[in-house]
Amino acid sequence: MKIITHSENETIEFGHKLADSLKPGDVVALIGELGSGKTCLTRGICQGFDVKEDVTSPTFVLINEYRGRIPIYHFDFYRLDSSEEVLNLGVDDYFNEKDGLCLIEWADRALSVLPAKRIEIKLTSLFEQNKEFDREIEVSHLNP
Ligand SMILES: Nc1ncnc2c1ncn2[C@@H]1O[C@H](COP(=O)(O)OP(=O)(O)O)[C@@H](O)[C@H]1O
Ligand SMILES: [Mg+2]
Repeated sequence: MKIITHSENETIEFGHKLADSLKPGDVVALIGELGSGKTCLTRGICQGFDVKEDVTSPTFVLINEYRGRIPIYHFDFYRLDSSEEVLNLGVDDYFNEKDGLCLIEWADRALSVLPAKRIEIKLTSLFEQNKEFDREIEVSHLNP
C-alpha cells in the first residue's frame, strides 16, 4: 500500500488509521531520511492507541516507552554504530515482547537483527520535486 500525504497533519491522521491494523507483538520498521516524517507518523500511531504523553525521538536514550491501550516501545537507531550494538544492549528482547508494539525509526541501520516478520514503512520526502509538504508512505507486510 502506498499513499502520499500533503501535510504533517495528514501523516498523523494516516498514523491513526494504521493503528487500527496494528496489534501487540507487531514490529514496525520505519525507514526514511531525516525529515521524511518517521517521528510524525509514530506520533499518529501512538495517538491511535490513546497515548497521552509527548512522542519524541528517543535520540539519547534509544528507547521511549509509552502507555496507551497497549505498551508502545519507540526506538531510534540513528546513533547506532552497528547492528550488533542492538544485541549487546539487549534491545532485541523487546522485539519478542508479545504484549507491546515496537516502532523503530532508522530501522535500516539494524535490519539484520529485526524479526523477519515485520511491517516495513518507507517514507520519502518529495521535496526535490518541489513538493515541500508531500511525503510518500509505503507500507509492506513482510512475512517470509
Ligand atoms: N506530509 C508531511 N508529513 C510529515 N511531516 C511533514 C510533512 N510535510 C512537512 N513535514 C515536516 O517534515 C518534518 C518531519 O519531521 P520528523 O517526523 O521528525 O521526521 P523524521 O523523524 O523522519 O526525521 C516536520 O518538520 C514536519 O513538519
Ligand atoms: Mg525522527
